[in-house]
Parts: sequence; C-alpha cells; structure tokens
Amino acid sequence: MTGSHVPDGARAGAGRYGRDLFEPQDPHEAGRIDAGALVYDPVTTRRLRALGAGPGWRCLEVGAGTGTVARWLLEEAGAGEVVALDRDTGALAALESPRLRVLTADLTDDSLRPGGFDLVHARFVLMHLPERRRLVSRLAGWLNPGGWLVLGDAVELPDVLDTSSAYRRTMDAMWQALRTTIGTDTSSVPAYPRFLREEGLRNVAAELVCPPLVAGSPLARFWSETWRRMRPALEATGHVDAEAVDEALAYLDSPRLAELGPGMAMAWGQRH
Ligand SMILES: C[S@@+](CC[C@H](N)C(=O)[O-])C[C@H]1O[C@@H](n2cnc3c(N)ncnc32)[C@H](O)[C@@H]1O
Repeated sequence: MTGSHVPDGARAGAGRYGRDLFEPQDPHEAGRIDAGALVYDPVTTRRLRALGAGPGWRCLEVGAGTGTVARWLLEEAGAGEVVALDRDTGALAALESPRLRVLTADLTDDSLRPGGFDLVHARFVLMHLPERRRLVSRLAGWLNPGGWLVLGDAVELPDVLDTSSAYRRTMDAMWQALRTTIGTDTSSVPAYPRFLREEGLRNVAAELVCPPLVAGSPLARFWSETWRRMRPALEATGHVDAEAVDEALAYLDSPRLAELGPGMAMAWGQRH
C-alpha cells in the first residue's frame, strides 16, 4: 500500500468533508487547520506575492478555513476585495474588513456565481472533493482576463521500502480512510499543471514544497491532530489497531522522528 495511490477501488461511501469527517463544530478543528496554515502560509503567500497579488486585486479564497490567507491578502498584500468562501464560515468570525466578503457556500453548488476575480486560490480543498476536475474548470471560469488560478494540494512521498512501521501504516490508513469516507484523492495533484493548460491558461508552472517534519513542530501537530480526529476511521481500515496509532502518535512526538513528506504541490496559471 503506497499512500494515496492505494488501488482500493471506488469510494465506499458518499461522505463529505465537514459533515462525515473534520466537522467544524469540533473544538479542535480550527487549531488543526491553523497548524497546517502556520506551515504552509509562508510558501503560499510568497507565491501569491510573486504573481503580483496586491492593491486593486479582487481575490477569491476558496475553502478559506480559518482565514489566514484571506487575512494576508487583505492586510499584507492590500488586495482590493477578498471573497472568503467556505461551506462553513464559523472560523472566519474574527476576520473583519470592509474589503472582505464572507460567502458561506458549497463549492460544488452549480448555482454559485461569485463573479470575476484577479486571483482564485484553493489550498487543501480540491483534494477532498471528488468533483475536482470539474471544479478546476469552474474556478478557471471565474478568472478575469489576466487573472491567476492557484491550486495547492497534498502530495504523498511514501517510503515504499517501509511496509511495516506504525507511522507508515497509520499514514497509509489515513489516505485510505479519507478516500473511502469522503473521496479524498491526491493522485491527480501532479496533473494540475496539465489541467490548467487544458483550461486554456498560460504561464502555467508548478512547484513542490516538503517542509521538515520535526517533533513538536506545527506540522507534526497537524498530523497528530488529524490522526486523533480520524481515529475510528483509521482503525476501521483494518490496517492499524489502537496500539499502532498510539505508537505512530508517540513517534511523531519523539526525537527519533525522521520522515520525508507529505508535501504540498502548487500549480498556477493565468487567463488570457
Ligand atoms: C483542509 S481545510 C483547508 C483550509 C485552508 N484552505 C487552509 O489551507 O488553511 C479545507 C477547507 O475547505 C472547506 N471545504 C470543504 N469542502 C468544501 C466545499 N464543498 N465547499 C466549500 N468549502 C469546502 C472546509 O470547510 C475547510 O475550511
């Protein structure tokens, strides 16, 4: 079994992010998302800055989560307007600006028409939505001429020679459980540059970032929180029992921790 590429057949269920896993009402959910944002915001914002995000831009932050990127666009980049879209916008309550519009909506709702944007950004969102290819078209269709679509999602870099460690088995169980419960799939993330070209975008490029996984770091905290949230689903895969998950959690918090990945791939392209 190798991470997200597990050939485990079609999804068993028709669950959705936020309803069947990672419910936003859970008191630990915002902290989990914030831990991931702490790791990846510097990467994301460096790219958005390089693409020119700044004054006058109308931006759409898709799956805005706790709003860290929306806040950066407003407060650091000085964007003209930021629309922060999420199926649950409860975690955006602290974000206040006359240039912010909070849009509570499901991205898969076909009646959604948020307008035209100079930047559409989605991080760790499409990987969780089975309709991802159709959604790339949709997001590209919301770009103004000259506007940028920027997609960031996880890429697993599994040590395929390790078939037995508690860490590997827990990580693999996580990808399998995500896939069978809510349809998460990272196998098409390397195809994002091609998807953007297929949408007629130009100046398409991509990069892969794999921040160090060190005990006590926000990234280690993100994975341990994720596994804790998913514990019943992990054990239901049959690949790990409670003891293995405990061992994997202890390893994440130990100085012995030494792993590469998962990382984040970002791909971007510009409307003519
Ligand atoms: C893993 S979090 C990422 C949050 C944020 N983009 C970040 O990187 O910090 C995924 C976010 O996408 C939102 N989301 C999931 N499915 C959605 C959908 N169908 N429509 C809108 N938002 C969705 C979730 O509510 C959550 O805030």
